[in-house]
Amino acid sequence: MEAKTQFFSTPIYYVNAKPHLGHAYTTIAADVATRFKQMDGYDTYFLTGTDEHGDKIVQAAEKQSQSPAQYVEKISRLFQDLWPRLNINNNQFIRTTQPGHIRVVELLLTRIHDRGDIYFSSYDGLYCFGCERFYQERELIDGKCPDHGVAPSPIKESNYFFKMSQYQDWLIDHIKTHPGFIHPRQYETEILSFLKEPLEDLCISRPKSRLTWGITLPFDPDYVTYVWFDALTNYISALGYPDGPLFEKFWPSARHFVAKDIIKPHGIYWPIMLKAAGIDIYNGLNVHGFWNVSGSKMSKSIGNVTDPVQVTDHYGVDAFRYFLMREMVFGLDANFTEDVLVSRINSDLANDLGNLFSRVLSMNLKYFKGIVPDTDPVEFPDLCLETEAKETIGHFRDAMAGYEFHKGLEAVWQFISCMNKYIDTQEPWRLAKDPEAQPKLSAVIRNLLEGLRTVACLIYPVMPETSKKMLEGLTISVPEAGFYGLEQMARWMQMPAGTCLEKPDSLFPRVDVGKKPGQ
Ligand code: MSP
Repeated sequence: MEAKTQFFSTPIYYVNAKPHLGHAYTTIAADVATRFKQMDGYDTYFLTGTDEHGDKIVQAAEKQSQSPAQYVEKISRLFQDLWPRLNINNNQFIRTTQPGHIRVVELLLTRIHDRGDIYFSSYDGLYCFGCERFYQERELIDGKCPDHGVAPSPIKESNYFFKMSQYQDWLIDHIKTHPGFIHPRQYETEILSFLKEPLEDLCISRPKSRLTWGITLPFDPDYVTYVWFDALTNYISALGYPDGPLFEKFWPSARHFVAKDIIKPHGIYWPIMLKAAGIDIYNGLNVHGFWNVSGSKMSKSIGNVTDPVQVTDHYGVDAFRYFLMREMVFGLDANFTEDVLVSRINSDLANDLGNLFSRVLSMNLKYFKGIVPDTDPVEFPDLCLETEAKETIGHFRDAMAGYEFHKGLEAVWQFISCMNKYIDTQEPWRLAKDPEAQPKLSAVIRNLLEGLRTVACLIYPVMPETSKKMLEGLTISVPEAGFYGLEQMARWMQMPAGTCLEKPDSLFPRVDVGKKPGQ
C-alpha cells in the first residue's frame, strides 16, 4: 500500500528584518504538525523560505547602504541559521531569488496570460508602499492604511491586471463544498465575507520606472511581477512544478500554515491563480492568530520584538517549543510574557513531567537496583495503566490531526497527572516494606515505566530533545527515524525486563524567578 502523503509549508518570510517570535511560531507549528504526521504514518514534505523581492526589501537595503542582493543574502541567512537551532526539520528552504523559482513564476504568468486572464490597463489609485498594494477608499480608516497608519499615495500608472472577478463564484462554491479547506472555521467565515463584495481585478505588475527588484514579466520587459504573485508561486516552484516528482507526489496534499494577516492572498489570490493556470488547487489553509508580547502588538517602537534566539539560549529549545504550542489556541491570539513562560516551565515541565520521571526512576533504583521489573499484566489488571495510555494516544491523535496542539499536550499532561495520582494511591514506599507485596510493587513500577515510555514517545513532535533524553534514560533504543509510530508505541509491556536503568539527569531544572535574561 502506498504511504499517505502530507505537504506542509510556512509563509516565506520577508527579509526586511530579522526573524522574531511570530516567524518562529508558524515554523515550529508546521514542524510539529510534520513530525506528528510522520508518527501517524505519513510520508511528509516540509517547506519554508524567504520572500526577497519588492519595495519593502529595496527600502530596507537602502537604509543599510547595501545593494538588495547583498542585503537579502544576509537576512535570509539569519532565517536559515535559526531553523536548525529551533530543531526545525524542513526538507527545503526556498528563496524567491533562485533561478528555479523565477522560471516557474514566468511559466505561470505566461500560462495565465495565454489563457487571456491578464490584461493591460491604466489605473488611478491609492497605493500603500508598506503593503505594496492599491487600496479602495472604503478599506481605509480615516483615510489611512489600516496596517501602516499612513495615508496611501495617489498613483496613476498603466499596469497588467489579473481577471480575478470571473472566478469569484467558483471560489465561493469551492470553499462551501470543501469543509476544512480554510481552518479554523472563523477564517472560512472571514474569507466568505470578503467574497460577498465584488472582487477587484488584481494588479500584478510594477513598472520598472518605480521598481526593478523583481521578476521581469515574460511578456513585457518594462515591468516586474507584483511581489505577492511572485511569492505565492513558491509553493509549487519548490516542488518542481510542472513535472517534478515532488510536485506529483506532494501537491495534492498541500496545506499552508499562515497567520491571519495574510489570509486574503492565500485564501483568495492563490486559489484563483492556480485555477486560472489550470493547476489543482491546494488542499487547505491553516490559519493561526497573532502573538502579542506583554499585551501589545510586537513593534520596534515599543521595543517588545521578541528574539527566539535570546529566549531559547536562556530557557532551552524544548521549553520554548512547548510553551508556544501549549499556550496558543490555534486560530486565536495569544500573549507572550516571560512570567507565563517561566511558570509553565516550572509547573508543567519541571514539576509535573520532570518530577514524575525522576521519581519513578529513583524508585526503580531504590527498590529494584535499577533493573526493569518483570510482571504479568494479567495478574494485576487493576494496576494496569494500558487503557489510560491508549485513551491518551487516541485523544492526542485526534487533537493533533485537527491542529489543536494545545489539546494534544493537555491530553498528555492529563496522563502525567494520572500517573502522579497513581503513585500517591498505590504508595510504592508502603509496598516496599511488605515482602509479600513484592509482585504488586513490580507491577506498579513496571506500569509507571511503560507510562513514561508512552509520554516520551508522544511528546516527540513538540519536544524532540526531551523525548530522546527520556527514551535514553529508559534504555529504549530510538528508531533511526527518531520516533515511534502511534500504533507501535501503543503496545504495552515493550520495555525489556532485566535491563538496568540509571539515575536520571534532571529533565527540566526549575527556573529561579528572580533570574531572567538581562536581569
Ligand atoms: N512574505 C509574506 C508571505 C508570503 S507567503 C507566500 C509575509 N512575510 S512576513 O515576514 O511578514 O511573515 C508573515 C507571517 O509571519 C505571518 O503570516 C505569520 O506566519 C508570521 N508572523 C509574523 N508576526 C506574527 C505574530 N505576531 N504572531 C504570529 N505569527 C506572526 O507576509
